[in-house]
Amino acid sequence: MILPSILISQTYTHMTAWFLLLFLYFFVFIMYKGTKGRKITHMIVRVMYIVVIITGGALYYVMMHSEHWLAYMIKVAAGIMFIILAEITIVRANKDKKFVIPFLSSLAMIGFMMFMGYYLPMGMDMFH
Ligand code: HEM
Repeated sequence: MILPSILISQTYTHMTAWFLLLFLYFFVFIMYKGTKGRKITHMIVRVMYIVVIITGGALYYVMMHSEHWLAYMIKVAAGIMFIILAEITIVRANKDKKFVIPFLSSLAMIGFMMFMGYYLPMGMDMFH
């Protein structure tokens, strides 16, 4: 498969995408419940899930046969896990249900993904 070079030649597209996703994810919680603004922000967060999966998936596609294939697989699984936790957190918060556990788990996932992303060799490689 031939992928556009903007997706795979560097990691900036992915970084821009997940940065926007995290910003909007946290923004949802400070908006008033039930407002149109919060609903629209949640919709944009959902679009950003897809953008992050596409940009991260493209990086994974070019690196999946490298020597770090397992670490890449774990990075992708952690990314998907974060998205599931983020969606559960927002939906529970909207329904006035307890969301502390999924929220804290999503924060832990963010920390883990940042570590994995900066540990792996593409883009910035902080730990070697
Ligand atoms: C909010 C969610 C995510 C965060 C915070 C995040 C964070 C990061 C960071 C910090 C990097 C390193 C960038 C660099 O070194 O320049 C990275 C790279 C990467 N991400 Fe994500 N990511 C997220 C979601 C995903 C998802 C959903 C996938 C897969 C579908 C994914 C796959 C990858 C891959 C394959 C790389 C390249 C690793 C490398 O060699 O540097 N990420 N990510």
